[in-house]
Amino acid sequence: MKPTVPIRSALTDPGLLGNVLAGDSWRAWRTLLIAAMGEALSDDERETFKKLTGRQHEPGQRVEELCVIAGRRGGKSRAMATLAAYLGGLCKHPLVRGERGVLLCIAPDQRQAAIVLDYTTAAFEQSPILKQLIANRTADTLELSNGISIEVRASSFRRLRGPTFVAVICDEAAFWFSDELAANTDTEIVNAVRPGLATTGGPLIIASSPYAKAGLVWELHRQHYGAAGDPLVLVAQGASRDLNPSLSEAVVTRALARDEAAARAEYLGQFRERGGGNRRRRDAAAAGRPASWAQPAAAPALGSWQRMALKRSSIVSRRLILRSYSSQRRACRSNALDFAARV
Ligand SMILES: Nc1ncnc2c1ncn2[C@@H]1O[C@H](COP(=O)(O)OP(=O)(O)OP(=O)(O)O)[C@@H](O)[C@H]1O
Ligand SMILES: [Mg+2]
Repeated sequence: MKPTVPIRSALTDPGLLGNVLAGDSWRAWRTLLIAAMGEALSDDERETFKKLTGRQHEPGQRVEELCVIAGRRGGKSRAMATLAAYLGGLCKHPLVRGERGVLLCIAPDQRQAAIVLDYTTAAFEQSPILKQLIANRTADTLELSNGISIEVRASSFRRLRGPTFVAVICDEAAFWFSDELAANTDTEIVNAVRPGLATTGGPLIIASSPYAKAGLVWELHRQHYGAAGDPLVLVAQGASRDLNPSLSEAVVTRALARDEAAARAEYLGQFRERGGGNRRRRDAAAAGRPASWAQPAAAPALGSWQRMALKRSSIVSRRLILRSYSSQRRACRSNALDFAARV
């Protein structure tokens, strides 16, 4: 992959992407994108970079993986869409004649995938130069005249093997299934797309609000956040207002007052403690009730026939099955609750 123009110039030139993440409020995002593409930061930007990544210095080369863990309304989807426009429209990819490069964006569901595609289309349309590349737009694809298709998919999508990916962008990956009962786990999806990136050297990019201390996003954070992480895997973490200072402080304060544990994940960008995800369960525990809501560490696992039924069912019927367990079978309640909390 070869940029035709540095990302710093693209993000400031109004003829390219200069109108998309413009102004001071997008400074932190611009810093992360510039660093991830291997370009140098200014001293000011480096201070922001240190705060968000726990690393002293930007990587100095394009990273293979970027994972940004940020609170709600922190600009994740729009920043990812801008990066998609840069990678798809302003970089050259090693494709052979007749080979179409796919820039794949995966989101938890169809609705969120559509949001990312709308933002990406808007990024192209805001640029008098890039908009000339748009060849066709459908519900899930933005086809460019340079041989690249930007495609969005829900994380339940199965046909991930085969295409040549020039980059893969994962939106809200902490909310994909990481449960062993799910047909497509977050790790399985990423493992399926990594070989598609191998021939192009394209990046894997993840932006998500944090959720449980489990799954792909948590593992990336655990292994690579800070100075000890792989230099080519950049993990950043920040509160919503670190990345979007235009978000009202009052919104965050009120959310913390309503439900602190939830708001710490939603707006402060912090992973939830295990069992801390459900207010009714926490309240029951705090009140000392022997609540059936309390998360029992010793909840028995599902039986093998139940696991088989769940694995073979569609996502919708799997939810129904688990919900019926939750009301009928106390033994399965904790599994059902964990599952329901993810959907
Ligand atoms: N840094 C920023 N400066 C100005 N506006 C921003 C910034 N970040 C986000 N916004 C605005 O906030 C709204 C939400 O942005 P976006 O959808 O990209 O955030 P998100 O983190 O993906 O949100 P969610 O967590 O709900 O998915 C948009 O209107 C966007 O323009
Ligand atoms: Mg979003």
